[in-house]
Amino acid sequence: MKIDDLVAFAKGKGFFWPSAEIYGGSAGIYDYGHLGVLLKRRFEQLWLSYFVESCDDYYLIEGSNILPEKPLIASGHAERFNDILVGCSKCHTYYRADVMLSELKIKVSEGAGAAEMDTLIQKNSVRCPKCGGSMLPAKAFNMMVDVNLGPEKADRGYLRPETAQSAYLNFFREFNVLRKSLPMGLAVIGRAYRNEISPRQGLYRLRELTQAELQIFFDPESFSPQMGWHKDVEVTVIPYATKQQITVPVGKLIEQNTIPQFYAYHMALIQRFYTEVLGVPPEKLRFLEKGGDEKAFYNKLHMDIEVDVESWGGFKEVGGLHYRGDYDLSSHTRGSSQDLSVTINGKKMVPNVLELSFGVDRNVWMLLDLFHVKDGERDVFRLKPWLAPFSAAVFQLQKEEKLAAEAGKIYASLKKRFRVFRDNSGSIGRRYARMDEIGTPFCITVDFDTVDSSSQNYGTVTVRDRDTKGQHRVKISELAEFIASRSEPPDAV
Ligand code: GLY
Repeated sequence: MKIDDLVAFAKGKGFFWPSAEIYGGSAGIYDYGHLGVLLKRRFEQLWLSYFVESCDDYYLIEGSNILPEKPLIASGHAERFNDILVGCSKCHTYYRADVMLSELKIKVSEGAGAAEMDTLIQKNSVRCPKCGGSMLPAKAFNMMVDVNLGPEKADRGYLRPETAQSAYLNFFREFNVLRKSLPMGLAVIGRAYRNEISPRQGLYRLRELTQAELQIFFDPESFSPQMGWHKDVEVTVIPYATKQQITVPVGKLIEQNTIPQFYAYHMALIQRFYTEVLGVPPEKLRFLEKGGDEKAFYNKLHMDIEVDVESWGGFKEVGGLHYRGDYDLSSHTRGSSQDLSVTINGKKMVPNVLELSFGVDRNVWMLLDLFHVKDGERDVFRLKPWLAPFSAAVFQLQKEEKLAAEAGKIYASLKKRFRVFRDNSGSIGRRYARMDEIGTPFCITVDFDTVDSSSQNYGTVTVRDRDTKGQHRVKISELAEFIASRSEPPDAV
């Protein structure tokens, strides 16, 4: 899908648009409309039940968006959560250096610092893309959004740059309240904030974003989840060392000592989540390993989860699998003077962290891009039924009171269990088309046979399938089960 078409569709149907749109909007900040929220919540709920609720030792918590300065100094974000900024000496337009250079087709290595950017700017005689002025020296720009609280605004803090910090800051209390055992998982679904220099590409680079992150705290000497079927799951990986894309069962990566077993296990889980739960074709999914300066500063082993998204111009990051070692709890031990080590089986240790991190907005955008398709003349949002904003729609064939009353009864009964749309305006073809566009998998229609006690179809309705356009006759008493059995996502682990 082209980016402009996706944006127009999202705005026109009620998915998302720039925040404060009536004032011209604000770069990198979006509001979700009624359909966008339904879709986003579906993603979040599936993520939660797949990665968190399926494990007895993993829990969802909720942390504050505002954090005091100290933890973010300890975590390294105050010093190192930077992008490289370049400005024009004439018109004072500022650019994110790597983005500006890439758009000029100048190759920039990921993680390049200010000195390397300056060299590239000089070597390629780069001038301001807007006014042609000369560029000022590049400099590191901290991406955190600062907040000053209190009557004199003297209490300095930041909006959290990643939800992960909420899990680390609550580790000590949760570990003691829970079973004092490892592994222990703490998940957060919530907002994070980044003062992006160049917010762009719709929901890709945002200043306010939603993350779904799971932090698994573990002892590296004993954390080895049972591989079972996981070892045969094929993944496509671009290792940092070779830069050559390979497709292999994750078991092979363990045999080759490329990655630890606990890491491979979670790659398999993620692969299955994307392909089976979200329905992403396997050839559109890959893991890109980052090393050297490309890696986030807190990571020991870092793979981006990338999906091929046409409107973003190819493979782009929608999540990450990060082995953060003991970086986080050791840093917060130093910063807070609170000993965050634990004693397990007589051994004192600082738990390691494996982080599963997902950008929820990016995943919502990805779903719209991949599954909103043309089928002949029709626009169809071919989402998996468990992701669809509405599970079903209820129509009556014509306006007759008898049909309306029956349709109303069916709607009232189904909406106790499902999110259902009721529509009785326009032709039936037009109503189907509206539901196809927003991804409603089943359209239920009450017709004259439904209410005619002499008809052999008395007490039944038609259920029209979004993808095949085929129609089934289903007993009203079996409708709920019909929808439920087709809207059940694959099991987690
Ligand atoms: N917590 C990892 C990230 O924000 O990318």
